[in-house]
Amino acid sequence: MMGLAFPCLEILQLETSTACNMNCHYCDYHHDSCVAYNYQMPLPLVEKIVSQLEECETVRRVQPWLAGEPLLEPRMPEIVEIVRKYCRDAEIVFFTNATVYEKRDMLMLADQVEVTVSAATPETYMRVHGKPYLDRVVKTVEWLEAQPNHPEIHLRIVLTERNLHELEAWRRQWSRFERFENVATGLLANKWRPAAGLELNSEVKQVREGRFSQQGRAPCLFWNLAAVNVFGDLYQCCSAVNNIHGNLNRMSFEEAWRRRVASGRNTETCRVCPVRVY
Ligand SMILES: C[S@@+](CC[C@H](N)C(=O)[O-])C[C@H]1O[C@@H](n2cnc3c(N)ncnc32)[C@H](O)[C@@H]1O
Ligand code: SF4
Ligand code: SF4
Repeated sequence: MMGLAFPCLEILQLETSTACNMNCHYCDYHHDSCVAYNYQMPLPLVEKIVSQLEECETVRRVQPWLAGEPLLEPRMPEIVEIVRKYCRDAEIVFFTNATVYEKRDMLMLADQVEVTVSAATPETYMRVHGKPYLDRVVKTVEWLEAQPNHPEIHLRIVLTERNLHELEAWRRQWSRFERFENVATGLLANKWRPAAGLELNSEVKQVREGRFSQQGRAPCLFWNLAAVNVFGDLYQCCSAVNNIHGNLNRMSFEEAWRRRVASGRNTETCRVCPVRVY
């Protein structure tokens, strides 16, 4: 069975485009004005990668974005078509800032949509995300939930010292959805410690409880995730982007993934990683 060729692999994350319209202050990728660069993964490379996973039974999710905003990827309908052709049993999940209201139709392509909105008031939204777009997010979410057969909708907050005080208001505002509350990992790695009692990361909790991975206990949040950048480099994970195990233009997915699994998390980033479970 081909699935055995890719141990630990459950999520494929492809950086189809780097475009983003925001500069969230906690973002690992776009701290500054992010219109400065905009690269795209060529569609033949998208197809080359996903076609190698056609028989892989363990890939249960494909995320066709990484350091960017999926609503700003004009080729998303074609990308989704390619992914569905090969990874027939995998769900397609978008994480989105939901601010590009005019492109909202694109959200209907996904099986699941995770909306990141890290504030409950316009003032704090501006301080965290760098743009005055909270009303657009609310409008997009209300539009999406009004669509027949809309994808499952989840809400996400990334917590920092700038928005912690709005956590309760945020929970009330979005109480009708399943929610994920994560602490900014970059800040954590830099020794920031939020107030005691705060659940550090709702997904890490799932990993700890063995609910995250279907292949046994995962050692960290992103161990089961293959993250590939626009140029075809397979990262250690979406968090450890300085560690590259191979380029998928030149190497098979299987070989690069084998190298990654063999790496055993012996990197500087892994050593201090805040979403490491053991
Ligand atoms: C990089 S974004 C890409 C998708 C989309 N632009 C968005 O913001 O939802 C994916 C997710 O990573 C989160 N994220 C970015 N930087 C983070 C950090 N330092 N710590 C934790 N989560 C972070 C974002 O808030 C978002 O939920
Ligand atoms: S919207 Fe997403 S990709 Fe863009 S800056 Fe914010 S977290 Fe980063
Ligand atoms: S321990 Fe390493 S591989 Fe695991 S999530 Fe952290 S940086 Fe990524």
